[in-house]
Amino acid sequence: MGPVRESIVKGLVPPMRPVPREIARPEYVGKKRAARWGGGDVHSPELIDKIRVSAKLAAQALAEVGKHVAPGVTTTELDRVGYEFVLDHGAYPSTLGYPGSAGRPPFPASLCTSVNEVICHGIPDDTVIQEGDIVKVDITAFKNGVHGDNCGSFIAGEGSERSRKLVEVTHEAMMRGIKAALPGREANVIGRVIEKYAARHGYESVRDYTGHGVGPAFHTGLVIPHYDAAPMHADVLVPNMVFTVEPMLVDGSQDNLEWDDGWTVVTADGSWVAQFEHTVLMTESGPEVLTLP
Ligand code: MF3
Ligand code: CO
Ligand code: CO
Repeated sequence: MGPVRESIVKGLVPPMRPVPREIARPEYVGKKRAARWGGGDVHSPELIDKIRVSAKLAAQALAEVGKHVAPGVTTTELDRVGYEFVLDHGAYPSTLGYPGSAGRPPFPASLCTSVNEVICHGIPDDTVIQEGDIVKVDITAFKNGVHGDNCGSFIAGEGSERSRKLVEVTHEAMMRGIKAALPGREANVIGRVIEKYAARHGYESVRDYTGHGVGPAFHTGLVIPHYDAAPMHADVLVPNMVFTVEPMLVDGSQDNLEWDDGWTVVTADGSWVAQFEHTVLMTESGPEVLTLP
């Protein structure tokens, strides 16, 4: 057996980057928790046009950050790239200052970097990316009062065939889940399709973290599971709804632990994970992916 990549450990997190006053912030920045959204998930055409702008920007930011994933680069350097891109386009990076669960600090960075066995919510720090790492970058842009949210998995260098397969299958699982989302169907159809496809390839689809309604709130309260949750999560999908689909597939067991930083979620057995996320608009004729560059 060749050298085995050591597990991911907590690194040094730089102070929160400042945001110029002229950039409008989401309501939760500086507060203990985000306000509960009571406006539902079906939006006006005018609001949807605004979400289109934020979603496109988030997708462009993700592509830009993805170009910088390479051996030798730190995850905080990726954060800098995302931060600068989003600010340069007049938007606020939604995760920066996002409130944590009770008693936990707010998220300190402009994107999440979740490497290898980190399932999600990894905090950018001085961790140096190594050849073959799977780096999940999750970045969200807030502009004109609405959020667009997306995530991609990038392999540093070539990676193993096993990692490449995990990444490919996870992307395909997301796309199949999105395509199964049709008006009149229940939200739980999405996860049913994702979980089935994952299992076919020997992967587990994480249950503890889900997709969500997105737009005027970062997380509206609508939950989109990535597993077969029926008869739960039976919200009927209707035109003008906007939500994310963001499966995390595990090459092993999805049992997980949260670090004492209040954010980083890792697999208990060290299994590696891939994730993709799109912000999706439901139209009369079916799903439309909004997070395209
Ligand atoms: N972008 C993540 C999502 O898809 C949320 C990250 S919240 C953070 O829902 F605080 F961890 F950044
Ligand atoms: Co999301
Ligand atoms: Co996200």
